[in-house]
Amino acid sequence: MEDIKKTYTMGDEKVEVLRGINLTIYSGEFVAIMGTSGSGKTTIMNLIGCLDIPTSGRYILADREISNLTDDELSIIRNEHIGFVFQNFYLLPYATVMENVLLPTLYIEKDKGNAEKRAKELLMLVGLEERAKFRPTQLSGGQQQRVAIARALVNDPELLLCDEPTGQLDSKTATEIMNLIGKMNEHGKTVIVITHDQNIAAHATRIIHIKDGEVVSQ
Ligand SMILES: Nc1ncnc2c1ncn2[C@@H]1O[C@H](COP(=O)(O)OP(=O)(O)OP(=O)(O)O)[C@@H](O)[C@H]1O
Ligand SMILES: [Mg+2]
Repeated sequence: MEDIKKTYTMGDEKVEVLRGINLTIYSGEFVAIMGTSGSGKTTIMNLIGCLDIPTSGRYILADREISNLTDDELSIIRNEHIGFVFQNFYLLPYATVMENVLLPTLYIEKDKGNAEKRAKELLMLVGLEERAKFRPTQLSGGQQQRVAIARALVNDPELLLCDEPTGQLDSKTATEIMNLIGKMNEHGKTVIVITHDQNIAAHATRIIHIKDGEVVSQ
């Protein structure tokens, strides 16, 4: 990211949320982005994840300039290259664990059997192979986040983006989830975890601190 700015317009007022972010994250890294509430972490995550575009500046993801793509082009990049994990899990309540994991494959994978094979492997990797037919409400918070991690990885993205992935979990479960995310990094995924928790950030190999929309250390 090069001199990335993000400004929101509220009526006549302009709010500059990101004030020129310069950031390089290398393939295979495990990075934590830290900062207090309101510092701009989720805004950065949305840009890194191609959920939003910057007001100005350059963003290059896997050798591609992202800053001026259309919504359709962004959604293709998201589907193929990025897996998302959120604080609130965002699982579909009426779908089974297996169906939730398969969700991202519906748009791009034509071979259903192939997708199911990958989903099964991932459920095994996150330790939930015996819960494939359960609904999210029948799982603990930590188990739900494991399902979300399996779902994030089902299209085999290079990048795993996690926004406060342990925000809803007790500290023991949080450590388990961070160990699992660390394992995915060992399997070759680039991992970015957004957190305001020092203990969570300590799992990463590099910590980037954000303050008032600027990088203060990395
Ligand atoms: N759509 C929007 N319109 C206007 N202002 C926004 C919008 N989204 C975010 N902001 C502002 O941008 C700033 C940064 O928000 P952001 O969500 O990135 O913070 P954060 O670091 O993720 O905080 P938290 O730790 O509470 O999740 C906040 O001051 C917020 O009010
Ligand atoms: Mg946030």
